[in-house]
Amino acid sequence: MTESSNPVSDHPLTSGDDRSGVAIQARKRRTFAVISHPDAGKSTLTEALALHAHVISEAGAVHGKSGRKSTVSDWMEMEKARGISVSSTALQFNYRSSGDNAAATDCVINLVDTPGHADFSEDTYRVLTAVDCAVMLIDAAKGLEPQTLKLFQVCKHRGIPIITVINKWDRPGRSVLELLDEISERIGMMPTPLYVPVGISGDFKGIMRRGEGGEPEEYIKFTRTAGGATIAPESLHSPSEAAELEDDDWVTAVEESQLLSAMGQDHNTDSFLAGETSPVLFASAMLNFGVRQILDTLVELAPPPGPRAAVDGKPRTINDPFSAVVFKVQAGMDTAHRDRIAFMRIVSGEFERGMVVTHAQTGRPFTTKYAQTMFGRDRSTVESAYPGDVVGLVNATALAPGHTLFTDKPVEYPPIPSFAPEHFAVLRAASSSKYKQFRKAIDQLDSEGVVQVLRNDIRGDASPVLAAVGPMQFEVVTARMTTEFSVETQFDRLPYTLARRTDMESAAELSRQRGVEVFTRTDGVMLALVSDKWRLQFIQKEHPTLTLEPLVATA
Ligand code: G4P
Repeated sequence: MTESSNPVSDHPLTSGDDRSGVAIQARKRRTFAVISHPDAGKSTLTEALALHAHVISEAGAVHGKSGRKSTVSDWMEMEKARGISVSSTALQFNYRSSGDNAAATDCVINLVDTPGHADFSEDTYRVLTAVDCAVMLIDAAKGLEPQTLKLFQVCKHRGIPIITVINKWDRPGRSVLELLDEISERIGMMPTPLYVPVGISGDFKGIMRRGEGGEPEEYIKFTRTAGGATIAPESLHSPSEAAELEDDDWVTAVEESQLLSAMGQDHNTDSFLAGETSPVLFASAMLNFGVRQILDTLVELAPPPGPRAAVDGKPRTINDPFSAVVFKVQAGMDTAHRDRIAFMRIVSGEFERGMVVTHAQTGRPFTTKYAQTMFGRDRSTVESAYPGDVVGLVNATALAPGHTLFTDKPVEYPPIPSFAPEHFAVLRAASSSKYKQFRKAIDQLDSEGVVQVLRNDIRGDASPVLAAVGPMQFEVVTARMTTEFSVETQFDRLPYTLARRTDMESAAELSRQRGVEVFTRTDGVMLALVSDKWRLQFIQKEHPTLTLEPLVATA
């Protein structure tokens, strides 16, 4: 599966000579997110991973969706059901891999949740700035779906290596080759299966580990457990035993594997890390088939935390003094506390609870002493954390996504790019007497990056326009307005679907066009909102000199 015999010390992205405490800890970390379309099985897989890492002893409580609210994180549900230590943003667990190919290795896995489950929001994108690898989860019957494609594009743009997992192999679906063809054709990334399934989708018996030239190395046969609630027992067989056990199904698997090799679809670590190929695994998250192999693959192939470029262009290594990037701010996670938690991903050095760090954006010291580090529902404190880890700082009101924290050696990481909004709404306070709170709340939500706030003279300050990547962001805003700021608000959707960057010179002419309105965003960028792409094309044809630049969707 990999060229390295010890994935933690010999990973291609780490220097084998580095033996500092931080480096050793960092090398053990694998920080990843699952990217998928709703219903592909992300929650079920998360639970299955936790089961295999022995964080929970039985799965099944949260498989069903009944009663789930879309705004409540699945992980919160899982926490409630199981009492396990998860926050709604990151699930951390120790995992001792027993790789089919490698010596046992102790790792710390950080699984960062991609929120906006039924919806799309900036948060979803931002989370991907905090991970080193992504698991692209695909439903075997449905293949690539729209949200998976969008998230894939973000990962590709950011150079995040992707491991593909084809889920629900226990259910009738497409064929192996059909699914792999779809991946290479539609996203241009070559799928390189590490295993092929034995038995067609709907008749999942086990998996064949592929060796050189696609030759079978081993057969891993799975046994169902009642309701898929516990780890599915595996039995390992040689190719000749497998041929006897599975007959035609084995022959088909071997043929498929050889065919893939003939087409060059074999794993190569360099091209995987370069984002050109994606190792593929087949699984049933529900039956817990193939889940151990997903964890082992993460340990063996996913890159550990590495250096990150600062705004000055110089990379910071994991051994530099402590630095971290805030990638998400979440308010009101615990309705009893009404708090606001800033989640940071540690980039370099060691975090110790209570240390005083500098907030790069303001230059002010920031104490983490009283800011509880949050992990899990009980908010148990984390005494120390290392590169790759996600730590939640409670009531860190000055922090916003993209902000940097550091000690000793000043550093600032590039801001997290804002994304091209596709949904627009005007927001109004129900009562004009609450205008002051309304203003304050808008500023707060703007600084947190919950939505982008646009203004122009015609609409005035009392009715700003909110721009969002996903429509659910508007509901989040009105809910927070009520609960945190006691301002009742209502929003009305605006009939625009595109935003283009423009400038003062073009603004007057654009404002005269039908289906166009010009605004200034809080960061000073001028945006023209346009009703649809046909209107945009028409204006560009009629007025070719006007500035109408696409916003970079993912930088
Ligand atoms: P999501 O978080 O990606 O939205 O997906 P989730 O895990 O909630 O799974 C969506 C549905 O797919 C669930 O069915 C779940 O049980 C099912 N599922 C997930 N993984 C597998 C798998 O490997 N095989 C099969 N056959 N089904 C899988 P549901 O109908 O919503 O709930 P339930 O009543 O089946 O539990």
